[in-house]
Amino acid sequence: MTYDAAPPHGDDDPLARAPGLSAPRIVWFVHRFYGRVREDDLLGPVFLARLGTDWQPHLDRLVSFWTLIALGRGSYDGRPLEVHRSVAAGHPLTAEHFRRWLDLFSQTADELGSPAAARFLTGRAARMAETFGTALQIAPPRSRRALEPDEQARVSARQEAPATGAPDAVTGGDGEPSHPESRRT
Ligand code: HEM
Repeated sequence: MTYDAAPPHGDDDPLARAPGLSAPRIVWFVHRFYGRVREDDLLGPVFLARLGTDWQPHLDRLVSFWTLIALGRGSYDGRPLEVHRSVAAGHPLTAEHFRRWLDLFSQTADELGSPAAARFLTGRAARMAETFGTALQIAPPRSRRALEPDEQARVSARQEAPATGAPDAVTGGDGEPSHPESRRT
């Protein structure tokens, strides 16, 4: 299956966290984004070292991850922070890796053609980047494009305050997405 420049049309999902998000559009988004990551001179080698050339299992996991974040359902049950600890142990990750990752992510999110969807996705990614950065002791990654003005103010305020581990509604404050099941309790 090829993923071209235009995202598929898709009825908005009733559970979508923002207009313009639906299962086929998440699949398109993840494949298009990681197509860029794979080609990127800074990020590509980190993924190649880790995943080799068979990206399908990774793409499937990322589709299930972003489906959980964007639509509140799906089978994702991983621990992203632990995964990135392990990635960083094999290949030091810097703020530049995160910045590049976020910039490619925002660029792809914009192509969804829904500002609300793009804002939602980039906001979640930026918060996770911040959590990962704190946990992995990387200077906080900043992609200003990925942060909304209110989020920028929040981040700046946090930078001035002592580090507290960046509690986060999506990641549960530890870089792990809280599953909707656990949020109900
Ligand atoms: C904040 C931004 C990021 C987010 C939200 C994110 C999210 C994720 C998620 C959800 C996974 C799948 C975890 C699992 O298998 O359960 C993953 C895997 C991975 N990420 Fe990230 N990531 C981010 C930044 C980065 C950066 C900057 C790099 C390094 C260049 C990176 C490298 C990887 C690699 C290599 C894997 C595959 C690990 C494996 O399965 O062996 N990520 N990422």
